[in-house]
Amino acid sequence: MSISKTVNSIEKRLQIERLLGATQIVAPSAGSDVVKGLTQTPKSLPACYFYDDRGSELFEQICELPEYYVTRTETAILQQCAGEIVKITGACELIELGSGNSTKTRILLDAYQELGYPLHYLPIDVCAGILETSAKQLLGDYPSLQVYALAGTYELALAQLLPTQLPTRMICFIGSTLGNLTSDECNVFFSQITNALQVGEYFLLGIDLRKPKHILEPAYNDNQGVTGAFNLNMLEHLNHRFEGNFDTTQFEHWAFYNEIEHQIEMHLRSLRSQSVELRALNLKVNFALGETILTEISRKFDLNTIQQQLTAQGLLPLHVWTDRNQWFGLLLCQLQA
Ligand code: AVI
Repeated sequence: MSISKTVNSIEKRLQIERLLGATQIVAPSAGSDVVKGLTQTPKSLPACYFYDDRGSELFEQICELPEYYVTRTETAILQQCAGEIVKITGACELIELGSGNSTKTRILLDAYQELGYPLHYLPIDVCAGILETSAKQLLGDYPSLQVYALAGTYELALAQLLPTQLPTRMICFIGSTLGNLTSDECNVFFSQITNALQVGEYFLLGIDLRKPKHILEPAYNDNQGVTGAFNLNMLEHLNHRFEGNFDTTQFEHWAFYNEIEHQIEMHLRSLRSQSVELRALNLKVNFALGETILTEISRKFDLNTIQQQLTAQGLLPLHVWTDRNQWFGLLLCQLQA
């Protein structure tokens, strides 16, 4: 087959829709969350600003780090249970929130392909760049795959999912991204999931479980400094997006495990007293020496509690898989009437 034919057939099987809120599309109101976070005490910034193209690349590097056990533990669980998932759901459209480079999704696609099911994939990510690149790679590797990608926030994307041509759908939220939501945000998110699904459809959730501090803290303070670069890149992203003048050499990465809240907290700490401007937001912010911006929480879950929460929301866990150390959990839930 000629190269141009391959490209054509990839393009025929790919649709990308950009919703407001996706990187590079700045809605008139965009940035109000930045203003709110930087004008309150203590300061904070929404974690979605990590994921411009550079941030998404750095996150891919984090997933490969020896200290970051999260990705390889979940991958191993998925490899073991993908066949069982496919047997439970049968032919199924896969909808993935925060799809990134879709590496782990390949394990599921392989399992559906092996049983001869059609492959329909709907990745959702705020970063339009990585969405397009990874969709094209997948389409090159799976000749019967259809991709309908949505670039935008989960909230917008979930609110406008269309009914599938396949018998059922499964929303996948793997990688423990749930941990980056506060408990209140989590409840809102679960109701967005239940609104987006029909009774009988599936929700696949991957969550990082509680474990000792000496394992957790290095995962967010790696030796190569990739997590630090990922954290600081948020300021570069804000500079680019909102005409800012953050000097990233004047902030440092700081991450620790809060054992009371069971969460990693990631901050940027100001290395001097300084003021920063974001011209597109008409915002000037002062920082004291040592003042911090909370950029992310990464909650670590208890399997029993999360199962109760899901059940209370109508998302019945049908099956729970975990690894030998019980470091990570994968839950297949089904929406009840
Ligand atoms: C995307 N999310 C699940 C990651 C986490 O572990 O909370 C983000 C991350 N931040 C620093 N390292 C990884």
